[in-house]
Amino acid sequence: MIKLEDKGLLLTRKRTNLIARPDYTSTRMYQVKLMRTEDFLFATELANTMNWNMAQEDFQFMTQLEPEGCFILSDNIKHVGIATCISYGKVGWFGNLIVKDEYRGKGAGSLLVKHAIDYLQGKGVETIGLYAYPNLVHFYSSLGFTNDEDFSVLHVKNLASLTSESLLSVSKQHMRIIEAFDNRCFGGDRKKLLESIVLEEGNLNYYVFNGNEVAGYVAATVYDLMAWVGPLMCQEGNVDAAVLLLKAVLAKLSGKSVYVALPKKETALAETLSNVGFKEDFSVVRMFLGPNVSSNCIYLAESLERG
Ligand SMILES: CC(C)(COP(=O)(O)OP(=O)(O)OC[C@H]1O[C@@H](n2cnc3c(N)ncnc32)[C@H](O)[C@@H]1OP(=O)(O)O)[C@@H](O)C(=O)NCCC(=O)NCCS
Repeated sequence: MIKLEDKGLLLTRKRTNLIARPDYTSTRMYQVKLMRTEDFLFATELANTMNWNMAQEDFQFMTQLEPEGCFILSDNIKHVGIATCISYGKVGWFGNLIVKDEYRGKGAGSLLVKHAIDYLQGKGVETIGLYAYPNLVHFYSSLGFTNDEDFSVLHVKNLASLTSESLLSVSKQHMRIIEAFDNRCFGGDRKKLLESIVLEEGNLNYYVFNGNEVAGYVAATVYDLMAWVGPLMCQEGNVDAAVLLLKAVLAKLSGKSVYVALPKKETALAETLSNVGFKEDFSVVRMFLGPNVSSNCIYLAESLERG
């Protein structure tokens, strides 16, 4: 759920292996089904009514990561909504919620959220996170979510060139320590996501050490004309390492349209971004259902729909 202009037609993800799956469950008025390959077009067109500029590959990626956690809502005749979620052990993330305009206000959105909650809790998830538009905080509160932190989604259309120190890239043999570090900060095991982002050819990643420990790492998903910077995870208070990592990635993205989602309190990162032309596109509120798992690590989101 993010405006990613420039991505659409030029997006070149390399994700395949789609599997047909059975229907999941149904209610009296609506049916919630698992999203399948043939639903990606509907999902993409619906998402893009919100100017999220998503591509079918985005839903392909989501269904590969969480085959049983991507949903289509239908009224038995037509598809009317979508939502996705992903499980990371005890933590899960919810996103991509949209109901067709003419079906709103009749409980469909709440049904999709409740369905995803049931699914995630059934997998042993204890805390579900999401990023809410400020006008929907009340909607999610009524479903049990509580406010955690305000985030800004920042964007620059054409990133200027900048120089940075060269840092070490993460290779396959480093993934175990990066995943363990990420788990301590994030509160859930994001192995399946991190391996698909960090090790994906064409994407960027760097890490830094502090003595014998990982001090932080960053990854960016890179498309032909645009890029999303995140996740970035750094030890609490180690702002210097976070700025170093951020600059190392930005130095490789000049000329691109670049997006970042960060907590509003991260003023040093915000200043680094502002110095190279980033401006706030919109705000979101991170909310949790269940025990709050936020840590004091410095954090940029991987995406709004996956945390
Ligand atoms: C958010 C959304 C999925 C809700 O779907 P829905 O089918 O209308 O949801 P429900 O009928 O279950 O609505 C439940 C409540 O949320 C409120 N609500 C829904 N959309 C709202 C909005 N845009 N602004 C403020 N309140 C909203 C409704 O008024 C209703 O409140 P009430 O029960 O006190 O009357 C739908 O509005 C939508 O698709 N919006 C555009 C996409 C979007 O913003 N997605 C969320 C990204 S965080």
